[in-house]
Amino acid sequence: MSHPSAAWQALLAHREALSTTRIDGLFASDPRRGPAFTFRCGGLALDLSKQQLTAETLRLLLALAAEREVAGARERLFSGAVVNVTENRPALHTALRGEEHVHVGASDVLPEIERCRERMRTLATAVREGAWRGATGEALTHVLAIGIGGSYLGPKLVVEALAPTHPGPAVQFLANVDPTAADDALAGLDPARTLVVVASKTFTTQETMVNARRVRQWMLAGYEKSALPPDSVIARHFIAATANTRAAGDFGIPEANVFPFADWVGGRYSVWSSVGLPIALALGMPAFERFLAGAHAVDLEFRSTPAERNAPLLFALAGIWNRNFLDIPVHVVLPYAQRLASLPGYLQQLEMESNGKRVAADGSPVASPSCPALFGEPGTLGQHAFHQWLHQGTDSVSVDFVVVAKPMGSDTEAHRLLLAHAAAQSEALMTGRITDNPHRDCPGNRPSTTIVLPALDAASLGALVALYEHKVFVQGVIWGINSFDQYGVELGKEIAGKIEPALRGDAASLHPATRHLLGLLQ
Ligand code: F6P
Repeated sequence: MSHPSAAWQALLAHREALSTTRIDGLFASDPRRGPAFTFRCGGLALDLSKQQLTAETLRLLLALAAEREVAGARERLFSGAVVNVTENRPALHTALRGEEHVHVGASDVLPEIERCRERMRTLATAVREGAWRGATGEALTHVLAIGIGGSYLGPKLVVEALAPTHPGPAVQFLANVDPTAADDALAGLDPARTLVVVASKTFTTQETMVNARRVRQWMLAGYEKSALPPDSVIARHFIAATANTRAAGDFGIPEANVFPFADWVGGRYSVWSSVGLPIALALGMPAFERFLAGAHAVDLEFRSTPAERNAPLLFALAGIWNRNFLDIPVHVVLPYAQRLASLPGYLQQLEMESNGKRVAADGSPVASPSCPALFGEPGTLGQHAFHQWLHQGTDSVSVDFVVVAKPMGSDTEAHRLLLAHAAAQSEALMTGRITDNPHRDCPGNRPSTTIVLPALDAASLGALVALYEHKVFVQGVIWGINSFDQYGVELGKEIAGKIEPALRGDAASLHPATRHLLGLLQ
């Protein structure tokens, strides 16, 4: 990877030409700017009009995408080529939500995907209708979903966003190894009425396994007085979603309760697989399938819409413009929807674990800054916390507003107010304000994108998540990054593996800084 290429240089020159142009000035000179910079995809509207860019910027960014052969990379992604080069496998999450016959090597992946979907349907229906019961015949009213990272963030996002509209068993999540997380999760649960779903691609993740073992103990303790053998209790109460079926079996979960997925499903792309079981249990399989269908619609459009109107592509390129040409190091995601409170956390993993890398796929250093830091909060909560920094801080920042057109909840007036705040924030970030008091001045010219969901429903949510996935993919291609590995998370895990036993015994072999810290913890 080497910059500056011809397309990159053209963008650098263009940046100079555009350096004094303000976003609100672009609106003043083009009354059609709003519609001209709004793109549709999967039923969503992507409004890029408040980005600091022009039609010429998009033309040059598209030339960069062509130079980086994004279209070819996209075809390799969808067709099951080895795009995860460091781990030597495809990244085929798109196949999980489609009906196409995609081949990995000689084998068609679709039959296995369909089989898994059918098994998910059977389980979800049986639990929801009371045909699948606990070991003593009680209906299962609660689901405890154990998992972390990609085995947690996606199901949590979707269940929280949609649960109120689809009553089913109440789903709780247990992710952190902090024992209070398990204490709190188990406090209100009755073992006889609880179904436990352990989601872990590897089935070796320490946090998940510690929690799974603890919950198994709790479950068996709950049945202590019954004459039931432990195996039959586990068989009625434990489900696994994993790519490591053997480890799930070793844990004691019978094969009939193991919902496998392939190793070409990346952890942070796994919500579309059996990792989505808590969604199907909480909302019903039809809702889960609408979630898949919403994402699939975006896949089809991403794959076939001409570049000039291709929303995921343009979304990604606007991000490249902000990061690499406007030098913006921080990206903020503001869902103006309380039920999307988990979206920023979900996107932190999707974006930062995928593209938070300093080495390109070929092992050379990346030639330009890659993934910005990402954080966010639901609107309007952030307005009373960090929006001060957005409007007047010394760092530049880019923002995504995610808004929902159809009123949510029971108070239409309050929803209108929520929308008014979203629109006001994006306008204020753009226009800023100059007064005769420097303390009140806001520089404005902060670029933002607004994504409009017609309603907060399963299809729109699937479309939203897929839109971000493809944004991340395109940006990875532009930066030359393999977006599908995550070696950076391993070092800390290895060191923790040495510290934990030392905490119980001799700490002499540890780093002096760690010995010092452990001393403070005595
Ligand atoms: O945080 C690292 C990571 O490997 C993520 O990529 C993954 O989503 C998470 O841990 C959980 O992994 P698993 O699903 O294997 O338990």
